[in-house]
Amino acid sequence: MADYKIRSEKEQDIDFLWEMLYQAIYVPEGEARPSREILNQPNILKYLCNWGRQGDIAYIATDLSDNPVGAIWTRLFDEANKTYGYIDKNTPVLSMAVLPKHRGQGIGTLLLNEMIRKAKDSGFISLSLSVDPNNPALRLYEKCGFVKVGIDGTSWDMMATLDKK
Ligand SMILES: CC(C)(COP(=O)(O)OP(=O)(O)OC[C@H]1O[C@@H](n2cnc3c(N)ncnc32)[C@H](O)[C@@H]1OP(=O)(O)O)[C@@H](O)C(=O)NCCC(=O)NCCS
Repeated sequence: MADYKIRSEKEQDIDFLWEMLYQAIYVPEGEARPSREILNQPNILKYLCNWGRQGDIAYIATDLSDNPVGAIWTRLFDEANKTYGYIDKNTPVLSMAVLPKHRGQGIGTLLLNEMIRKAKDSGFISLSLSVDPNNPALRLYEKCGFVKVGIDGTSWDMMATLDKK
């Protein structure tokens, strides 16, 4: 993993975060990817719109030239503004993606471990997410301590309880 670094997000990363949101949309193998217009759908838009509000946290994985190759972010929602994977207003909802040609090299694991550490340090006791049952990312989440807590439409809601250490 010497070829990649993880750093906190900077203001100029916002376009990359939107691209990662697009990449995080699960498309079954063999199916065409949707147009990027999908990012304007209210249920997708809410993962990043007005980014920078209280509680928003993001990390960027970069190559050694500081080119972004992946991202992870968490955001708090509430009963009036829920999203897929929402559990409660104190549980940040996690999203992540790595650019296709950089997948399968451990970047996702690094990003997720970094975010779990940050969430613990910030005093959160849980994290949640939503994942398609056929998405191989499910295995990554299980390896990092997420468990299935419910089904929402066709996707699993998963939650990790963060120990205090
Ligand atoms: C999910 C994702 C962020 C993981 O990032 P990554 O850098 O590929 O992850 P890693 O290389 O650290 O792999 C971690 C584990 O994820 C699982 N995994 C993730 N993607 C996989 C894939 N495409 N095929 C097989 N296993 C996969 C494996 O269990 C792997 O662990 P292992 O190699 O020890 O078996 C990345 O594959 C991705 O961007 N996928 C598309 C977007 C997406 O689905 N985001 C999540 C939406 S819920």
